[in-house]
Amino acid sequence: MEALRIYTEKPYQLRGEVTISGAKNAVLPALAASLLTGEEVHLTNIPLVKDVQTMLTLLAELGAEYSLKKKSLTISAKKILSDQAPYQLVRAMRASILVLGPLLARKGRAVVALPGGCAIGTRPVDLHITGLQKLGAEIKIEHGYIVAEARRLKGAEFEFEKKTVTGTENLVMAAALARGETVLKNCALEPEVSSLCELLVKMGARIDGIGEETLRIRGVDDLGPASHRIIPDRIEAGTFMVAAALTGGDLVLREVEPAHLQALTDKLTISGARIEKSGRRSIRVIGSQEIKPQDVTTAPYPGFPTDMQAQFMVLMTQASGTSIITETIFDRRFAHANELTRLGASIEIQGDKAVIRGRTPLSGAEVMATDLRASACLVLAGLVATGQTTINDIEHLDRGYEKIEEKLVKLGVKIERLKNNNNHRTGGKP
Ligand code: EPZ
Repeated sequence: MEALRIYTEKPYQLRGEVTISGAKNAVLPALAASLLTGEEVHLTNIPLVKDVQTMLTLLAELGAEYSLKKKSLTISAKKILSDQAPYQLVRAMRASILVLGPLLARKGRAVVALPGGCAIGTRPVDLHITGLQKLGAEIKIEHGYIVAEARRLKGAEFEFEKKTVTGTENLVMAAALARGETVLKNCALEPEVSSLCELLVKMGARIDGIGEETLRIRGVDDLGPASHRIIPDRIEAGTFMVAAALTGGDLVLREVEPAHLQALTDKLTISGARIEKSGRRSIRVIGSQEIKPQDVTTAPYPGFPTDMQAQFMVLMTQASGTSIITETIFDRRFAHANELTRLGASIEIQGDKAVIRGRTPLSGAEVMATDLRASACLVLAGLVATGQTTINDIEHLDRGYEKIEEKLVKLGVKIERLKNNNNHRTGGKP
């Protein structure tokens, strides 16, 4: 098991510049969309993270061919050799569910393993399924697999009971090749959804209402080639913004989209940080000496992102007072609280709320990463926890952050990657 070790004699003040990578949650649907055509799709600003490799492995198994050079990728699914997304790949990455809609639309059949739950919640896909059934798909659940069939999907009207990012993405991709018009209501508004729609339009799809809650998709018979740049990763950017606020640092983030970061920017400003635009695609974050406590409730975009909840919790452990974080999206997304408590934080979980009493000095320890954003939160905690913090199981981190230790070393952090670190905690592992 690989680990990251951070040496913190005294708390860091991050200073300097960091360039943000392309968004994991934008590149995954864009890759899945390549199944909708036999032509070449060219994607740039690809983040070199583990989930991209997993998705490319899956697409290759389905018959796609690709070449990845540095951060540019050309992929074409001239022929679909298989319609099966096997369990071991779907288990490794829930976002594999994104091949369901495109495979069904292109091939007329898709057999995708049910993703199952994960560390942050039960993660159902019922809305993906009922939406595709509304478009005329025959869907059975057999032996842990979604078996979907439809000679040709038919346009229909469908309203999502609740906002779902990949649910919206799956339905838009399926509707792009359906016969007739599809109207999707209560769609997710995340920038990654809009960016996928823009790629589909470049491929020849006819989509109105991009960026709004109602999307109108007039199906076409075929989609063609396209070139598309992956948007910046607003969660990686948010993670570094919190790092600057947490350490009282002064950080310039390059290659960001400030408009995608408004909810976090507002909360960091209230906590005392100064955030300035420095150039069209750059922002500067200057941390304050005193961090003010505040309450946060996660919500679908443009609300405060659930993917920033764990990182913000670390900041609130250093705030001068009590804060309450309410997690409304996932039912089990507080696992990181236990690990922060081991570093010295005072956090009490009460149902969907975490009550954080600051300010508590943190001291380094061995901790365990449970999921992607929890891992990021522990790296942030390591920046202000005096002594040595070892974050085990960082495979989670590598799924969504590109070379994070290299970026932190450039900002003056003493951090190293340990191969085969087997110092597991003695005593009752949860
Ligand atoms: C996407 O997951 C992101 N992943 C997640 O990022 C992110 O946390 C999440 O959206 C919320 O913003 C990708 O885009 C690859 P949802 P997704 O469907 O689409 C419920 C990360 O760290 N729901 O928007 O799986 C669900 O239980 C990851 O990068 C249903 O009930 O999330 C949740 O409560 C973690 N039925 C809510 O909707 C469904 O059919 C939102 O989930 C689908 C979802």
